[in-house]
Amino acid sequence: MHKYENIELKALFEVSRVLTSSFNLERNLNLVLEILSKELNLTRGSIFIFDKKREEINIVAAYGLTNEEMMRGRYRIGEGIVGKVMETGLPMFIPDIEKEPKFLNKTGSRIDKKGISFLCVPIKIEDEILGVISADRIYAEEQGDVDDDIRVLSIVASLIGQFLKLWESYKIMEDENLRLRSQLEDRYSLPNLIGQSPSFQGVIKTVMKVAATDATVLLFGESGTGKELIAQIIHFQSKRAKGPFVAINCAAIPENLLEAELFGCEKGAFTGAVKRIGRFEQAKGGTIFLDEIGELPLQLQPKLLRVLQERKFEPLGSSKTIDVDVRIISATNVDLSEEIRKGNFREDLFWRLNVIPIYIPPLRERKEDIPLLLEYYLKKFNHLYKKSITIDEDALKILISYDWPGNVRELANTMERLVVMTENKKIGIKDLPDTVKGTLKIKAFLSDELQLPTEIEELERIRIIETLPKHNFNIRRTALALGLTARQLSYRIKKYGINIEKGLNKL
Ligand SMILES: Nc1ncnc2c1ncn2[C@@H]1O[C@H](COP(=O)(O)OP(=O)(O)OP(=O)(O)O)[C@@H](O)[C@H]1O
Ligand SMILES: [Mg+2]
Repeated sequence: MHKYENIELKALFEVSRVLTSSFNLERNLNLVLEILSKELNLTRGSIFIFDKKREEINIVAAYGLTNEEMMRGRYRIGEGIVGKVMETGLPMFIPDIEKEPKFLNKTGSRIDKKGISFLCVPIKIEDEILGVISADRIYAEEQGDVDDDIRVLSIVASLIGQFLKLWESYKIMEDENLRLRSQLEDRYSLPNLIGQSPSFQGVIKTVMKVAATDATVLLFGESGTGKELIAQIIHFQSKRAKGPFVAINCAAIPENLLEAELFGCEKGAFTGAVKRIGRFEQAKGGTIFLDEIGELPLQLQPKLLRVLQERKFEPLGSSKTIDVDVRIISATNVDLSEEIRKGNFREDLFWRLNVIPIYIPPLRERKEDIPLLLEYYLKKFNHLYKKSITIDEDALKILISYDWPGNVRELANTMERLVVMTENKKIGIKDLPDTVKGTLKIKAFLSDELQLPTEIEELERIRIIETLPKHNFNIRRTALALGLTARQLSYRIKKYGINIEKGLNKL
């Protein structure tokens, strides 16, 4: 008896160890059955789980059954012994299955039913019955009695119950994670990188090429040109997509905290320091995006250089060396060669970061992309705000000719505001923000009281005034540039009283 209890304890201990080792449902439950059969001499064992959607009790793990036999092991509530235990939540014992008509032998695994006993206990947690464990056993006197078996199986069942509850919430989290991740993969895919100009097509080509590699990338371009978007696309289109994307803005974190932020630190590394994991470790298996890399303090640059060269670093205040498995993408909107010249940025670090440079030109240098972006964002925000706003031709012309110093970010924000604020179905010149209108120097002339024809006239007048000096007040060439005939232009110059003798009119 004493010996038997030891075996029991050992089995239970192993079962609980297996169940806490991972969230792999089938593997864990199969291992549990293996332990039970080995330690407790069960010839066959099955774990059934109730499938709420299909209202069926299915075998999820089995010992001593073939796959085919497992497939057959399905019960409805109340059906057979398994169904009965599921229904009542009480254990059952059939001393001799040959003599029990309720015993269905659905799996067909017992050809000879002679002398086999059948044990079946519910998997319960609080009042909910989640499933059933069943076991076959050939009883011999010296192997303890049925009550012992039922007791052990009941303990195992309650351990499994707790595991199943945890597993369920893990599953919900994992599904949610997968959903979010596939949303991210959709959002950060090439179709969302808008631009047809030759220079931007070059960018897209490079992005596609580098996504397939682990190469270090340096993105440079003015503010709002899409550096972060491109870094995310590279990550989510790479084989690291399932890993984390960790972004850190080197300019946004005070210099004295940046080292701990990037590399982590030990407790007490500096006054008040608590142990923390750095961004490089958080990004393990994924990508780290070092934004505004030009702002990385000189004294931290050697440490980053070592990460790039040896893929190793030590957290602040620690002597433990950590290996880095991270793809590094950095970005800057300042001219790093200027920073190198001024001694603010190490040249060796620059070359390590600059393995694959990607330059994203500002919008004013690829005006062909503006109409596409306007259309893309109009559609996007119409969809988001459930509106169906369009842009009238004159407003569109102004939006296209505007220089967009804030690049795509400014364009996207402007479109969002326009879609939200515009009350009419069509966006007109008067709806445009002052910044956009301002570049045409027509701000002073346009007000909400103006009627559309007056507005268009104003626009026409200003365009003529702006274009004339570019062509040295030559009527024919100016007309050509404006898409007018010389006659039409002369007529308008007279109509608006533009004085071409004295050069540019005052606006
Ligand atoms: N080619 C593009 N197609 C579609 N959206 C774009 C494109 N380029 C940029 N955007 C959008 O413009 C906004 C600004 O882009 P992002 O934040 O990547 O710019 P940035 O270069 O990192 O700017 P900053 O230097 O100011 O941080 C984002 O909303 C981004 O999705
Ligand atoms: Mg950015």
